[in-house]
Parts: sequence; C-alpha cells; structure tokens
Amino acid sequence: MKNIVVLVSGNGSNLQAIIDACESGQINAKITAVFSNKASAYGLERAKKHNIPAHSLAAQDFLTPDNQPDRQAFDAELMQQIDTYQPDLVILAGYMRILSADFVQHYLGRMLNIHPSLLPKYSGLHTHQRAIDAGDTEHGTSVHFVTEELDGGPVILQAKVPVFEDDDADALAERVLVQEHQIYPLVTQWFIDGRLEMQGNHAYLDGQKLGLHGYAED
Ligand code: GAR
Repeated sequence: MKNIVVLVSGNGSNLQAIIDACESGQINAKITAVFSNKASAYGLERAKKHNIPAHSLAAQDFLTPDNQPDRQAFDAELMQQIDTYQPDLVILAGYMRILSADFVQHYLGRMLNIHPSLLPKYSGLHTHQRAIDAGDTEHGTSVHFVTEELDGGPVILQAKVPVFEDDDADALAERVLVQEHQIYPLVTQWFIDGRLEMQGNHAYLDGQKLGLHGYAED
C-alpha cells in the first residue's frame, strides 16, 4: 500500500476529508504521518484521533547565527523527518508556509497543494476577499502539483462556486471548502492509482496533458 504524508497549519478539514477517504477505501493508501509548523493546529488533533503520528516543528527553533529565521534548516529537518515515513505522496492541506527550493525539488512530481482560488487568478493570500472586491461572480479552488513558483504549479482539477451579492469572505470560504473536500480526495485517489503525473511543468491524467485549468476545463 502507498504512503501519504500530510502537512497542515490549521483546522485540517481537508486532512479530515482525505483521512475519511482512506478509511472508506476510496483512496487505497495509508496516511503515515501528519506534520505542522504550528503546534496548536487542530489538524494534529484530527490525526491523533485516527492514530496517525502527528508532529510539529516551530520556526523559532531554526535560526541563523544572527538570529534570523533559517528556512533552509527548517525545511531540511522537516524533509528528514517526513522521509522516515517513506511517502509516495506529500499533500499540503492548508500548509501556510513558503517552501524552500530544495524542499520543492526533493518532492517534485509527488507533492500536491490545494489553493482557494481559480488559479492562475489570485495566488497568495486573502483570495476570497480579493474575488469579492473584484466583483467576480464565480470563485473556487484548485488542486495543483507544487513547483518552485508560489501557487504556480500545473493545475489538476478545479471546482467553481458562485459568489452572491451579500457574501463576505467567511461565507465564501465556507462554500469553497465544501468543494475542496470533494476534489482533494479525488485527485489524491488519481495520484495513488497511478493515473496522474507531472512532466515538464504539465500535469497528465491517464496520459492526457491537462490544460491551464486542469481536467474538465469548462
Ligand atoms: C483551505 O481552504 C485551503 O485551500 C487553504 O487553506 C484552507 C485550509 O483549510 N490553503 C491555502 O490558502 C494555501 N495557500 P483546512 O485547514 O480546513 O483544510
């Protein structure tokens, strides 16, 4: 059976969706560990409830000699700890930390992220508010392979939601999360079943090259 390691920073509802899909057999893999950069992340509690090893690393424990945050050292330690669980796939599920180039290269082609916008629109933070402020009538979420470009790796699958006139960012985020809990387990299943791969900055599903917006573009 294939191994999955999941990284979280917060609530971990996407982690929960993937745990549930593994337990129900939708995904034929085992989550061997969950890591967080926040000791208080509720995602760690979710993991423990399912007897999944849960670990946290704190950025303040990794400083350069002149007391600056040392991203390389943090990521090197995280990588080493992750690799003791021999992941076939690393899943970022609300992991809110910029990754070093070495970390990305090490897991290239076997690391996925979910980002709450219809990429390439709105990479970065505050995506829901930005969609509202722009007057968009449609918003959504994207699952993509992780590359060195922030939120810029090839998109695999998107889900759209409507934006209503009286929406605030929280209402919109909630609507997006419902979709995330559907598409992230599905894409994970595709990867675990060997149907999905990344080659030369493109995602392929069943050997078919996916477009800018991933599978089922319309
Ligand atoms: C999700 O909406 C995910 O798309 C987003 O954080 C939320 C985590 O929710 N990720 C990012 O913004 C990454 N740039 P969760 O902790 O309940 O899964």
